Amino acid sequence: MRYTAILVPGDGIGPEVAHAACGILSAAQAPIDWIECKAGIAALEAGEKELLPTSTIEAIRKHRVALKGPCTTPVGGGFSSVNVAMRKTLDLYGAVRPVRSLDGVKTRFDHVDLVVVRENTEGLYAGIENEITQGVVTSVKVATRQACLRIADFAFRYAVHRNRKKVSVFHKANIMKLSDGMFIRCAREVHDAKYPQIVYEELIIDAACMRLVQDPTRFDVLLMENLYGDVISDLCAGLVGGLGVVPGANLGEQCAIFEAVHGSAPDIAGKGIANPLAITMSAVMMLNYIAEMHDDPSVAAIATRIRMAYDRALVEGCKTRDLGGTLGTAQFAEAIIARL
Ligand code: NAI
Repeated sequence: MRYTAILVPGDGIGPEVAHAACGILSAAQAPIDWIECKAGIAALEAGEKELLPTSTIEAIRKHRVALKGPCTTPVGGGFSSVNVAMRKTLDLYGAVRPVRSLDGVKTRFDHVDLVVVRENTEGLYAGIENEITQGVVTSVKVATRQACLRIADFAFRYAVHRNRKKVSVFHKANIMKLSDGMFIRCAREVHDAKYPQIVYEELIIDAACMRLVQDPTRFDVLLMENLYGDVISDLCAGLVGGLGVVPGANLGEQCAIFEAVHGSAPDIAGKGIANPLAITMSAVMMLNYIAEMHDDPSVAAIATRIRMAYDRALVEGCKTRDLGGTLGTAQFAEAIIARL
């Protein structure tokens, strides 16, 4: 059985790391037929009229899974985020970012194994900003009870499914009493009604950050709204080796997009030195998703093979520069392929 997946290489380092990941999947004989679609600046450069072409959205809707490289968003002006638009358009409401220590990557902490679950469609990322009068702007934080209940149920379901024991909700409901207040009330409600077997805790996010950097091993599943999830994901990446080693999935009821936590890294784009591991790990998550969706253990076995190969490559000292090594993107991908 073969499966079709959409490949959106993205901008900056996106094409370099995405194609390295595809090469690894192909060497592992993953039964994936790719359809390449454009998004972001790459779409405009390819002659598309929109940053997020309808054809890309329709292709993802049709084939239900995509592997995506990062898309650049200009800072402090210019166009709105293509990534946010994609997640909203496809209603990919749950972002899952597993953060785990890797044997070959020495950091301050061993045994980190946590998962950031981020609400992906609301909060300040609703993008509602107004200049009320010159020098005064407002940004509206949107929270709906429906989305808060939905992401809470998603996080607890994930915890049960993955045999995880605890969900910690990060919030700022002491200040944002209505929006974050509703977020924690919904999480509590879902926990008490459906998942009492999971340990549940709430932490104000500033203190939670301190605890995270003091001892991340006390955490298991972290649940939070959009902006907090964005920031905490990068913080957690820093605990296990950086943005080069943390994958992610954006999940909805109909389809899913798998992408690394990192961005398009313009500072190193085109140099052939970006770490392709985060997107390769995201591709492994994609294979496991396909395996579950189609009840096909042979695809899960290929995912495990790739995971074992990159774990071994790291343990044997094969590393890109972000991890203190010397390998380029293609060389590291080859090192993984050699260990499949
Ligand atoms: P970034 O994640 O692109 O880079 C931060 C730092 O980490 C840079 O020094 C970069 O070189 C390094 N880095 C990131 N990925 C790496 C990799 N695979 N290997 C080695 N080093 C890596 O974040 P930044 O610079 O804040 O954002 C750049 C652009 O990316 C912005 O336009 C931003 O909007 C966009 N972005 C897109 C995302 C997405 O498409 N999902 C997510 C985050 C940012």
